[in-house]
Amino acid sequence: MPTRRDILAGAPVLGVAALGIAAFGSSRAHAGDTKAADTKSTASAAPATGPFTLAALPFNDTELAPFISQNTLSFHYGKHHAKYVSKLNELYVGNEALGTTTEAIAKATYGDKDHVPLYNNAAQAWNHTFFWNSLRKGGGGVPMSGKLSDAMKTAFVDADGFKKALREAATGQFGSGWAWLVSNGGKLSCVKTANADSPLWTGAGTPLLCIDVWEHSYYLDYQDKRFDYVNAFLDHLANWEFAEKNYG
Ligand SMILES: [Fe+2]
Repeated sequence: MPTRRDILAGAPVLGVAALGIAAFGSSRAHAGDTKAADTKSTASAAPATGPFTLAALPFNDTELAPFISQNTLSFHYGKHHAKYVSKLNELYVGNEALGTTTEAIAKATYGDKDHVPLYNNAAQAWNHTFFWNSLRKGGGGVPMSGKLSDAMKTAFVDADGFKKALREAATGQFGSGWAWLVSNGGKLSCVKTANADSPLWTGAGTPLLCIDVWEHSYYLDYQDKRFDYVNAFLDHLANWEFAEKNYG
């Protein structure tokens, strides 16, 4: 039987599809979906041309509107995420010894100047699957009770304190990157990362929730108003069920 850690890392046979969706078992997720044809999304998806496949979106591609439109998803998921996965399959040839999961490859190549393209595509494949699972229709706000809620009160005092911290991380990231709610031994904080980096391998903490702040994630819906996109995530999309499972 695979351990939770094995599933989190993504079994080779499932590739990136195992990450996040199978691992965290959201009721909205399709555990183990590996075929683009199975996705609820109508967005185009990259054909599986290697061991890594594009995970199905854990929601219908129309149900996050108006906060994230079907049009944005058709590019963000159907083009950008799909391209990271297909490029990863291309670059993986000859580099199989570096790992069999996106997480393992990203960890093995982080900071390695000889494997920058492989790192970027493996890391972005992992980050995007984590991001899709960080979203849900009718999300947002903060958890009202439970272990994560208690930890959030300790770290941020109240909902406004949390929103301010994540908003500062997300809007303070210069250029492309990500903002994350992370746990360090149970202690919570909000951090930002540049480009394809994730706290999971930079050492900044265990990711609980993230928001993609690359321009491709919001420009069609919000143009240059990253602040408004981040607020939409905070008020309407943040998937606390997913965060709670990650907090353990
Ligand atoms: Fe993205």
